[in-house]
Amino acid sequence: MKIAVIGGSGRVGAKLVNTLQHRGHEVVAASRRSGVNTLTREGLEQAIAGARVVVDVTNSPTLDGKSVVDFFGTSTRNLLAAAEAAHVRHYAVLSIVGTDRLLDSAYFQAKMLQEDLVQRSSVPHTVLRSTQFFDFMRFIPEPEPDGSTVRVSPAFVQPIAADEVAAALADLTLAAPRNGMVEHAGPETFHLDEVVRRVMSAADDPRAVIADPQARYFGAELKIDSLTPDEGAIIGVTRFDAWLKQHASTLRLEQIASPISARSALKEPDFLTRVPRARGTRKTPSLNQ
Ligand SMILES: NC(=O)c1ccc[n+]([C@@H]2O[C@H](COP(=O)([O-])OP(=O)(O)OC[C@H]3O[C@@H](n4cnc5c(N)ncnc54)[C@H](OP(=O)(O)O)[C@@H]3O)[C@@H](O)[C@H]2O)c1
Repeated sequence: MKIAVIGGSGRVGAKLVNTLQHRGHEVVAASRRSGVNTLTREGLEQAIAGARVVVDVTNSPTLDGKSVVDFFGTSTRNLLAAAEAAHVRHYAVLSIVGTDRLLDSAYFQAKMLQEDLVQRSSVPHTVLRSTQFFDFMRFIPEPEPDGSTVRVSPAFVQPIAADEVAAALADLTLAAPRNGMVEHAGPETFHLDEVVRRVMSAADDPRAVIADPQARYFGAELKIDSLTPDEGAIIGVTRFDAWLKQHASTLRLEQIASPISARSALKEPDFLTRVPRARGTRKTPSLNQ
C-alpha cells in the first residue's frame, strides 16, 4: 500500500517511514528537502497521488505566536484539501497529550487548530496525541539570563520513546480510521523538572534545573496533571532509565540547534496496558501542595 508521510525527515517522521517500509509498504517521505512544501503546496499533489494513507508529522520551523498558528492552519488546510482530492482513505496526524489544556500557549493553540481542522474534515481520520519524547526533554527549558540555571515546572509527565510513538502511529494508520482521538504515553510518571534535570545531566549540560511551579511550558502555566493522559491511553513499555543508558553518548554529542529541529528505543508498544482513570474525573490539584 502507498503511504505518504508528510514531515518524513523529522524526528518521529523518519522513524515512521522506516517502520512502514519494514512492514512492506511503499512510503513517500515528503518534506521541503524532498521538494514538498505544505505551505506553498509545491510537490504536494504528486506526493499524495495514489496514496491510500496520509500521515502528517510536520512541525513548524518557528515557535513565534502568529507564525506557528499560520503554519499549522495553512499546512493542515492544504494537506486535507490534497488528501480529499486524491480520495485518500485514511488521514492520520500526530498531536500532543494535553493540547486542549495548554491554550495560553501559541504553540498549543496552533496544535488545537490542526486537530480541529482534521476532526471537522470529511476525510476519514485518526488523531494520535502522544506525550513528550524522552529526547525532547532537554529542549523544554527556556534559557535564563544568568546562563547557569533554568526553571522548569514540577508538573507530572509521562515521557515516551519516539520509536514507540512511530510504531503506534504505524499501527493506527494501517488500521481503520477511528474518526476520533487516541492518546499514547510512557509507562512511568515523573516530575517534569526531574526528568529534564536527568536528561540535561546525561548531555553534560552544566546548567542547574530549578523546580518552579510558575515556570512556563511553551508559554503555558502548567497544572500538576496538564501533561498526563486520560483513561484509555496506549501505554508504552520503554522505561526512562533504560532509554537514558542507551542514549547517553548520543545526547552528549548532539548539538542543540533549535528547540524544534533538534528534538530526536526500542520495543513495540504494549497496547494492552491502560491508564486507570475515568474521563471527566480529572482532578487539578495545585503544584504548590
Ligand atoms: N517532539 C515531541 O516530543 C512531540 C511529542 C508529541 C507530538 N509531537 C508532534 O509531532 C510532530 C512532529 O514532531 P517532530 O519533533 O518529529 O518534528 P521535527 O523533527 O521538527 O520534524 C518536522 C518535519 O516537518 C517538516 N516540515 C517543516 N516545514 C514543512 C513544510 N512547510 N512542508 C513540508 N514539510 C515541512 C520537516 O522537514 P523539512 O525541514 O525538510 O521541511 C520535518 O520533516 C509535531 O507536529 C509535534 O507537535 C512532538
